[in-house]
Amino acid sequence: MEHLPIPLPLVSLLVAVFSIGQICFCNGGWSSNFVRDDYLSLDMPFDSDVFQVPKGYNAPQQVHITQGDHVGKGVIISWITTEEPGSSSVTYWPEEQESNKLQAHGYFLTYNFFNYTSGYIHHCTLQDLEFDTKYYYVVGIGNTTRQFWFRTPPPLGPDVPYTFGLIGDLGQTYNSNTTLRHYELSPRKGYAILYVGDLSYADDYPFHDNTRWDTWGRFTERVAAYQPWIWTAGNHEIDFAPELGESRAFKVYTSRYHVPYKASGSTSPLWYSIKRASAYVIVMSSYSAFGKYTPQYKWLEKELPKVNRTETPWLIVLMHSPIYSSYVTHYMEGEPIRVIYEKWFVEYKVDVVFAGHVHAYERSERVSNIAYDIVNGMCKPINDESAPVYITVGDGGNLEGLATEMTEPQPRYSAFREASFGHGILDIKNRTHAYFSWNRNQDGYAVEADSVWLHNRYWTPSSQSEAASHHAAFR
Ligand SMILES: *[C@@H]1O[C@H](CO)[C@@H](O)[C@H](O)[C@H]1NC(C)=O
Ligand SMILES: *[C@@H]1O[C@H](CO)[C@@H](O)[C@H](O)[C@H]1NC(C)=O
Ligand SMILES: *[C@@H]1O[C@H](CO)[C@@H](O)[C@H](O)[C@H]1NC(C)=O
Ligand SMILES: *[C@@H]1O[C@H](CO)[C@@H](O)[C@H](O)[C@H]1NC(C)=O
Ligand SMILES: *[C@@H]1O[C@H](CO)[C@@H](O)[C@H](O)[C@H]1NC(C)=O
Ligand SMILES: [Fe+2]
Repeated sequence: MEHLPIPLPLVSLLVAVFSIGQICFCNGGWSSNFVRDDYLSLDMPFDSDVFQVPKGYNAPQQVHITQGDHVGKGVIISWITTEEPGSSSVTYWPEEQESNKLQAHGYFLTYNFFNYTSGYIHHCTLQDLEFDTKYYYVVGIGNTTRQFWFRTPPPLGPDVPYTFGLIGDLGQTYNSNTTLRHYELSPRKGYAILYVGDLSYADDYPFHDNTRWDTWGRFTERVAAYQPWIWTAGNHEIDFAPELGESRAFKVYTSRYHVPYKASGSTSPLWYSIKRASAYVIVMSSYSAFGKYTPQYKWLEKELPKVNRTETPWLIVLMHSPIYSSYVTHYMEGEPIRVIYEKWFVEYKVDVVFAGHVHAYERSERVSNIAYDIVNGMCKPINDESAPVYITVGDGGNLEGLATEMTEPQPRYSAFREASFGHGILDIKNRTHAYFSWNRNQDGYAVEADSVWLHNRYWTPSSQSEAASHHAAFR
């Protein structure tokens, strides 16, 4: 490791955080130049263990759940059957109350994409569940049944600890499998996943081979059947292919993955919100109209003032395309959405904005760039205690590989960046403190390659910036 002009207080931190690889202390934060064997990012073959079709006549497959209402007392259960529709009902019961079996009734749909015809896609919403309770559920009633379980979140409240996983751009390669395994084994147990878009990457195949949507559904079932994934749409969900006669954008994604958008007054499954424990999560769509007067804009304009930080202190925004990203790939793609929405994120003191899209990891300082008015020339990111931290976790491990090329020099707003596959964990402790950590796949499941304490922007707005504890003076 060559000698670098690093201020003394940082040395111990650097040694702790970057025991491998090389660090460049440039204009901005740290760029890890970790150079690894460029092992191939290949999709797992169709006959892989993770893609196996469950045994039995018409057995439910691709089982996944998500939150089914606004506060966490509802769960949407989805699954696919292939031989015949079968039943769309779910039998469920609270732990230790097997005699108290309940039943909810859903429905199924199918879709065609070019020459592909989907299986029978079932969606069933369980409502009015008890908070903080383990439930068992059974799908496939009448044919082959399969049993799973989930745990509802605790009631909303400002100091309710809760842990989210952060995964983006997962795909279905061997790396994707490692990402998921590390999330499952993580010593910080995630209870729900905030998924920042780009799911199966089926559209990278000729004719958007939708059988790759089915394999992805079977691959992710081992986690998604047991805990909710909060979905965000990415560019790989658009599936706009008029050359194949397919011009209804998001048809496949919205047929397979349902979200509780009506519960937050949204008119589209592509943008919505949920509350969960001490968090208020707003999901945006990078690939839907977002300019002034559009439905998404009008919804968010009404949504942000509704957030009650006494009930849910942690305000989190998810979108696919990052607003602050200093990688060459997709550089500036988030700019139009930044121009319109960044000032709201600052005004409403959003704590953190998570994005994917760029296949790498990056964490920003708290900065904003909202002073520019066309004529004043004030168009640089500046330190801003009211601004969110922007975190890119587009590093799930899909077949397109890593985004390794970074813009140089590293901009001042970029606190840390590294092109490795991995996942994040957001560990909310109480109304003032949350701990974010990032796991890189090469290190095993228990090692945190980057981490930061986040101080809530509403409850500790003027406290020392958490970034300052990791980093010397920013300006
Ligand atoms: C769909 O069409 C493509 C191209 O003709 C072909 O390779 C593929 O096998 C077809 N798939 C189905 C399910 O018919
Ligand atoms: C499969 O389940 C459905 C719904 O309960 C039922 O109508 C159908 O008869 C079952 N099929 C077979 C072959 O048992
Ligand atoms: C994927 O990971 C799981 C869990 O670690 C493992 O059992 C399985 O063999 C892996 N499959 C492939 C194709 O790597
Ligand atoms: C905000 O939430 C708190 C705690 O649930 C509640 O007491 C208060 O009335 C709410 N404020 C508003 C304006 O709804
Ligand atoms: C909130 O959590 C942090 C981190 O665990 C802890 O240091 C702090 O004392 C907690 N605050 C309260 C009021 O319990
Ligand atoms: Fe993407």
